Amino acid sequence: MTTTGRFELAAAEAVDGGDFAADVRAGLEARPRRLSCRWFYDAEGSRLFEAICGVPEYYPPRAEREILERRAAEILDRVGSVDSVWELGSGSAVKTRLLLEPLLREGPATYVAVDISRSALEESAASLLGSYPSLRVLAVHGDYEEGLRRLSGWAQPKLLLWLGSNVGNFDRAEAARFLRRVREALGPADRLLLGVDLRKERATLEAAYDDAQGVTAAFNLNLLARINRELGGQFDLAGFRHLARYDVVRGCVDMFLVSRRAQRVRIEGLDLELSFEPGEEIHTESSHKYSREELAELALASELRIDRLWTDDDGRFADLLLAPSDG
Ligand code: AVJ
Repeated sequence: MTTTGRFELAAAEAVDGGDFAADVRAGLEARPRRLSCRWFYDAEGSRLFEAICGVPEYYPPRAEREILERRAAEILDRVGSVDSVWELGSGSAVKTRLLLEPLLREGPATYVAVDISRSALEESAASLLGSYPSLRVLAVHGDYEEGLRRLSGWAQPKLLLWLGSNVGNFDRAEAARFLRRVREALGPADRLLLGVDLRKERATLEAAYDDAQGVTAAFNLNLLARINRELGGQFDLAGFRHLARYDVVRGCVDMFLVSRRAQRVRIEGLDLELSFEPGEEIHTESSHKYSREELAELALASELRIDRLWTDDDGRFADLLLAPSDG
């Protein structure tokens, strides 16, 4: 743990190293093959994700920014006084500023950022501390589990942010299960602001996950590059292509890396040799989209009450203020 006045960085053990190796082995040996989206975010992947947030087709960051810009005061008003703002998957925390700024006008505050990317945490914390002299930042380098562990027992009243449609990486049952545990970690005075991407037509969704500049493709392929860098993999990146496909029944955009030809790939660090058929897919990410009904179901299953729901003008994205059912 590093402490320098207003900044503290706490690291969990389980985020890199051995976990990555074991998870890559299990996923690539499984059929159908898969790699977990949690491994996207090494320094290069975090940089590429920020670039995705700037491409015209990837609308969620702009839609959520529109909501937060317009509603920050109203959101904070409904939340009431809080001592700390927490965020799961904080990333660059640029949207978080829209809530921190009005909050800090009322007095000093603590921001606890939980992220799996160390580079994102370090950069966002440095930038926030530079902007806001009365802000304290605790950066937790870890996964959501680590975030939950630290959240429970922290003083009320607090506001927990889970923005950017991060919940979409879980399927609906997993999302409800996880939110139920979040709810258990919250006291009656605490609130959760949840950012969720809404169901919409296929063309818009598939374009959002396959932009013309190829940034999302590079982000997806970086998983293979990371295996090459960290595990001595010998993936030929030109041997795989990026694919995004919307499944309207599941309400989910899935991303894959598709083998362009028959090929064998060795991963030295795992002492593993893989063979791919032409067209064979590695599943790399699920991004679930919600209807209004599905949001109501999610809240109910999580024992959370929807205090309010806001959308952008085009109805693409929603932010929900959630309270424990007894809160
Ligand atoms: C960070 C998980 C919300 O699913 O929309 C963006 C990640 N993947 N483009 C999403 C992502 C491809 C993003 N989340």
